[in-house]
Amino acid sequence: MRIGSLRHAAVWVACLSHHVAAVNHRDPAEGAARMNAYEIFNAIHSAMRQWGSSLNHNGLSTFVATVPAGVTLYHGTWRSTPPPGPEWLAFEIEHAELFAHPRWKFPPRELNTAGSSMPLQRQRGILFQGENDYEVREDGEDEKGYLQIYKTTQPVRLLYLDGTSAANTEMGTLDLQDFVIRGDRNAEAWDEFGRAKSLCDIVTSWGLQGVIRMEAGFEIIKCNFSDSMELVSAIQRPADPSNSDGLGWEGYAEVHPFEWISAVAQRYHGIGGSRVELDFSSMVSAMFYPVNLTNDKSSKPNLPRLWYATEDELLSIRSRVEEVVHERLDGKHTSINWQEVTDLIITRYADRLWFMAERAQSILEFQGELNHLTNTHVDYGEKDIYHAACSRCERHYIRSATPKTPEDHLILAAMEEVTHAICETLFVVRLFIKNRIRIDKLKYNDKVPASRMDELLQSSKKAIRELMDQLKWTRWKECTTCDFHEVCFAPLWPVGDKDSYEQPNCRNHSSIQNSWWDNRYWDMPKMPHAPKPPSREDL
Ligand SMILES: *[C@@H]1O[C@H](CO)[C@@H](O)[C@H](O)[C@H]1NC(C)=O
Ligand SMILES: *[C@@H]1O[C@H](CO)[C@@H](O)[C@H](O)[C@H]1NC(C)=O
Ligand SMILES: *[C@@H]1O[C@H](CO)[C@@H](O)[C@H](O)[C@H]1NC(C)=O
Repeated sequence: MRIGSLRHAAVWVACLSHHVAAVNHRDPAEGAARMNAYEIFNAIHSAMRQWGSSLNHNGLSTFVATVPAGVTLYHGTWRSTPPPGPEWLAFEIEHAELFAHPRWKFPPRELNTAGSSMPLQRQRGILFQGENDYEVREDGEDEKGYLQIYKTTQPVRLLYLDGTSAANTEMGTLDLQDFVIRGDRNAEAWDEFGRAKSLCDIVTSWGLQGVIRMEAGFEIIKCNFSDSMELVSAIQRPADPSNSDGLGWEGYAEVHPFEWISAVAQRYHGIGGSRVELDFSSMVSAMFYPVNLTNDKSSKPNLPRLWYATEDELLSIRSRVEEVVHERLDGKHTSINWQEVTDLIITRYADRLWFMAERAQSILEFQGELNHLTNTHVDYGEKDIYHAACSRCERHYIRSATPKTPEDHLILAAMEEVTHAICETLFVVRLFIKNRIRIDKLKYNDKVPASRMDELLQSSKKAIRELMDQLKWTRWKECTTCDFHEVCFAPLWPVGDKDSYEQPNCRNHSSIQNSWWDNRYWDMPKMPHAPKPPSREDL
């Protein structure tokens, strides 16, 4: 029994009629927000969180972000001094350490799939720098690596590009920055310096100081290292940590890739330390526009991208991003923390929906959970206990938000769709079970066969499962039983295997790299034209 067919079975619940009214709108933006409601909800829930942003890796939304004064950031490099131009800052020590090595003597040529015994920095050199001559050492250049530590001295305003936006793939991870922000549909996936430089030209002209993106770890592309931060220290690393016996690096190769991933995994549910403030009311999303978000890659039909967006559409999104940045930099605006709204909804419903769909053993157990969730909103003084209760249920968590910006209104529309779907399903299933049991009791003279009750349980579970398929909350992909010093592993660009995307799983330091190389999740774009290295003068 599908809920869809229940709707036609003259089950009248108040929020159903509310819904019909709500989707009769003329505004294309609101229409798009309602159509993409589940994805918008999930994007807000995953913003600046490593977990959901790794699974839903094709980010289509921008936010104005602030790193407050006093935040420590890390930069791994071959220099002992601050870089003269745009460069990367990591939020995690391990992430920056991957880059704290001398430049390569020879450009690595191709991905070596023998991978696992190679020191990670070397793997990364091959994976990341490719044929980018920027990473090639000049004659006579110091063969050193440094970990630089910076502290912000003033709030730093940045543009946050959501999803796994630092992933050099052709899967859609770069669409937002290349197609929308840079207006370049032919950008090379690997041309990171070109990308950093053009992003900086654009966002600094808007009054920002860089961008925040994510790969296996969050990072900032900081356009000017002398601006609003100070160098705390630049300490030299060993030439090759895996071969530095007697220097305190013993065991490096044993634990290292794991240490990086586990540091990143600590940020699955938030960057922590109040290091980034997101202005949720500044969210601009391609999902607010009536754009064709079909993914051209049939292997990833569920992840939206901007492949089929028209130039006009890309331009209107871009001009709205710019407009919003200017508005928000004025600083007079209040902001709604929409992520807290999604957190309250998910923490109330996620585990309970899962229990109902996957674990309830009897209809009574199922009803117990269902009644628990719905009774809150039922006024037993009312004659029809479904009618108003369902509307109260869908308003419950969004009532507190008073939208101010046009984007707030679109986010609210998306939230309404989501809470509506949840409450409608719960109340319709509740009414369905009640009616079925009443009819069966009459039919079987109070001796309803166990098979009938089981059938009822199965169809009720199915209705909840269908709701979960719509909601697609990444909570349901989390591992439940990892030990200390293990991580729940899902592909985090540039590493990970296909199976871990479908079913994230616990890994320790010896199993962390399993299938990274032979069952790779991420596509590896070819480098037909090695990106032009920036010249010294460019930097
Ligand atoms: C970088 O920032 C510093 C400090 O604000 C400023 O003096 C310098 O001109 C900036 N450099 C560029 C290239 O804008
Ligand atoms: C999106 O574009 C593709 C390719 O042109 C097309 O096959 C698909 O039907 C379009 N989807 C929508 C919803 O318009
Ligand atoms: C790591 O995990 C694997 C697979 O679960 C297990 O066989 C192995 O004993 C573990 N190793 C350590 C050092 O815990």
